[in-house]
Amino acid sequence: MPHSASDLSPAIEVRGLKKTYAKSRKAEAKIALHGIDLTVPRGSIFGLLGPNGAGKSTLINILAGLVIKTEGSAAICGYDIETQTRQARASIGIVPQEIAMDVFFTPLQALDIQAGFYGVPKAERRSEEILQALGLWDKRDAYVRQLSGGMKRRLLIGKALVHNPPVLILDEPTAGVDIELRRQLWKYVRELHAQGTTIILTTHYLEEAESLCDQIAIIHNGRITANEPKDSLLARLDQKTLVVSAETPLTAAPDALADLNPVLRNNGALAITYHTNQMTIPHLLDRVKAAGIIVADLRTEEPDLEDVFMALTYDQDK
Ligand SMILES: Nc1ncnc2c1ncn2[C@@H]1O[C@H](COP(=O)(O)OP(=O)(O)O)[C@@H](O)[C@H]1O
Ligand SMILES: [Mg+2]
Repeated sequence: MPHSASDLSPAIEVRGLKKTYAKSRKAEAKIALHGIDLTVPRGSIFGLLGPNGAGKSTLINILAGLVIKTEGSAAICGYDIETQTRQARASIGIVPQEIAMDVFFTPLQALDIQAGFYGVPKAERRSEEILQALGLWDKRDAYVRQLSGGMKRRLLIGKALVHNPPVLILDEPTAGVDIELRRQLWKYVRELHAQGTTIILTTHYLEEAESLCDQIAIIHNGRITANEPKDSLLARLDQKTLVVSAETPLTAAPDALADLNPVLRNNGALAITYHTNQMTIPHLLDRVKAAGIIVADLRTEEPDLEDVFMALTYDQDK
């Protein structure tokens, strides 16, 4: 189904977006977004990664029309959220962070109401297909209050899909979700992506962004501190770890290597983390040999996203 006349515009285009929550009796005024710029290309699985309070939900909720921006602009598939609100809303499905649902309906009714809300004609509704895909077809006539937490979360995804949006945004979809359900969710999300849906997910789980997303933006204290393909983000951190196994497993790290801060692993191997732009492997190996270690085996380990995240977060704080 052709989604819009502007299939070439980015899925999301945010410029100078600022949000200040007004002072209340309970809290001081809070700048949640400091004028951010962000472009999410069509067809990506895009991760918006950041710690709690970073501003992820604020951004998502502005796109959803649930929070009013203070300054700047945002467009969804080329449709400005302010001047082309109807088209913008029709272009995204949002799976909110909080599970808040009307529990007196059945899943089938819930999807029907949502489809009506979006003006999807009866003949074009896909309630069965969606409930089947989410493993909820058997529960179609059960009351929502009888569903497990995981089923409710799947139903929320279903509700976000009734109007067949080209962009699906999931806000912390796996917080408090068990491993099996998480696997199921990601399988379905990948299927949607394979069918052409642009996926955006927010998470503070680094492994989640690392395993799912092809592009990752890091948001911290209301600012975007990184935004690039996952691989180049990983490459930006110039740290590697050299793991050396000696012919006889070591019982202590040699004093001669103390300046390299080596770590002795449980299996007697020595792990040395170094900066690739300051140190080379041949040089490291010379040091290791000079310390009297006879090398039996060696390998290097790449940093994971956790390291990248921490490094970028600390840089921001300087
Ligand atoms: N309705 C609100 N009123 C006042 N402050 C808010 C409101 N919603 C969020 N905040 C604050 O804005 C900041 C960003 O919150 P949020 O966007 O929910 O972050 P995240 O989703 O990344 O955890 C936090 O400091 C939070 O306390
Ligand atoms: Mg949030």
